Amino acid sequence: MSPRRAIARVIRAVPASDGAGVKLMRSLGQGPHARVDPFLMLDHFSSENPDDYVAGFPPHPHRGFETVTYMLEGHMLHEDHLGNRGHLRSGGVQWMTAGRGIVHSEMPQQESGRMRGFQLWINLPAREKMKPASYRDLDASEIPEVELGGGGSLRVIAGAAEVAGARTQGPIGGLATEPLYFDVRLPPGATFAHPLPDGHNAFVYPYEGSLAIEGRALSAHDAGVLTAAGDVAVESGSDGARFLLLAAKPLNEPVAQYGPFVMNTREEIEQAIRDYQSGTFGRA
Ligand code: FE2
Repeated sequence: MSPRRAIARVIRAVPASDGAGVKLMRSLGQGPHARVDPFLMLDHFSSENPDDYVAGFPPHPHRGFETVTYMLEGHMLHEDHLGNRGHLRSGGVQWMTAGRGIVHSEMPQQESGRMRGFQLWINLPAREKMKPASYRDLDASEIPEVELGGGGSLRVIAGAAEVAGARTQGPIGGLATEPLYFDVRLPPGATFAHPLPDGHNAFVYPYEGSLAIEGRALSAHDAGVLTAAGDVAVESGSDGARFLLLAAKPLNEPVAQYGPFVMNTREEIEQAIRDYQSGTFGRA
């Protein structure tokens, strides 16, 4: 049996506003201290009040990393300056590799009801930061769901799940950072254990209920950053738990970030700003 990872530190999400005033909880990405290499940011949006989300995210740039938007509930339209267009619907995922740059908008396609989901930013290695932008738009039906018993379940967005001797590959693979992205639902008082590659950084983000890892409790909105080696074992609280489990290979490269530009050096950031201002952003 492999050793188990403990919680090395907790990053508590803070209320934030982004885009044209979308209210959200920011977990990773509150500042340089709140990154888990290669994960740069995790935003959690959840509201039934249209005032919190209807203004959306009008056109804005990205360069140098990947954005992963996972919709639990709701409908957003994504459009970029290269003519790409996609719908994000309940249970679906958009995996966008911004690479050398895109300018895009992410706008709610509903004026009432609940909008709930996550946006995760994953860094790219230096050698891939200037590659052309690309997208994977995944419908809910393309994301495999694994039964865990007792009413528990696991959605595999990236990487592969290994449950009861069966391997389930998610739709996203073959990336330099080898990300694992699971959405797990546990009934009250259940346990879930999963292997993780030694040296890959990992964290758990509960968004409903509560859980404990090696005896340390985590409430909703508390990201538990795990120690570096061994499996992860999660025990759900008396109300059960829903949580994201994220792991990836660290890049161990310098990070120079200016808002939506994430490069390795200050000079590369200045170049990104010049390219954006001159209108040549994202072109070869
Ligand atoms: Fe964006």
